[in-house]
Amino acid sequence: MTLNRAVIQSVVQRLAVHLLCALPLCYWLWQMALTIMGQRTTLSTDPGQILADQTGMWALNFLLLSLALTPLHKWFRVRWVTYRRAVGLWAFAYAVLHVLVFYWLILGGNLATFGRELTQRPYIVLGALALLLLIPLVVTSTQAAMRRLKKNWKKLHQLVYLIAVLAAIHALWQLKGDWGWPMVQMMILVGLLGIRVYWWLQRRRTGGRAL
Ligand code: HEM
Repeated sequence: MTLNRAVIQSVVQRLAVHLLCALPLCYWLWQMALTIMGQRTTLSTDPGQILADQTGMWALNFLLLSLALTPLHKWFRVRWVTYRRAVGLWAFAYAVLHVLVFYWLILGGNLATFGRELTQRPYIVLGALALLLLIPLVVTSTQAAMRRLKKNWKKLHQLVYLIAVLAAIHALWQLKGDWGWPMVQMMILVGLLGIRVYWWLQRRRTGGRAL
């Protein structure tokens, strides 16, 4: 009976996490449908530009959220830490969508121009590197890979910090004036990295017993 309740609770929570993560995507689909029906929406003026910005922003938001779940758990007992992997996978999904929007809606599906952008614009090189580095993390995000890689799994997944740094610089670099949210994202990232360095120093001081 208790076991059943725990299982149902866990399934409902997992579903809620996925639904919450899918909200931005649902919103864009709804806005697109309204635009196609001829109504004025947030996508009416420049859908490619707006969707490229929004998908990139949400990819980084979810990446930062996945990094924040461990400190939130340690300090405030927020139990959603088990959904770190799900949130990370959503970050990857939004990053892929971001690149597809850039390729189809901004570059009109022109592969040669895409290749040129990838090699010539430094901020795009950083974004591409971030996306490439995300791939091994996604591929090894299963329980089976975790068991197979043992200690190396943790080392490999620490790459997520480098990925977040690359993505945050990529976001700041492409700005044409308004520093708003990308700057906040960078500050959140610096804070999260600071917490990790603090924990690492604490562990060294106490010979690994602190955490
Ligand atoms: C091949 C990979 C990538 C390409 C070609 C790319 C391309 C772009 C472009 C063209 C923009 C500027 C959009 C505009 O004109 O306003 C942009 C912005 C952005 N990208 Fe990427 N990107 C890539 C990977 C990533 C990844 C992996 C992330 C995050 C995980 C990311 C996050 C962002 C963010 C946060 C912005 C700024 C959005 C804003 O203005 O708030 N990008 N990207």
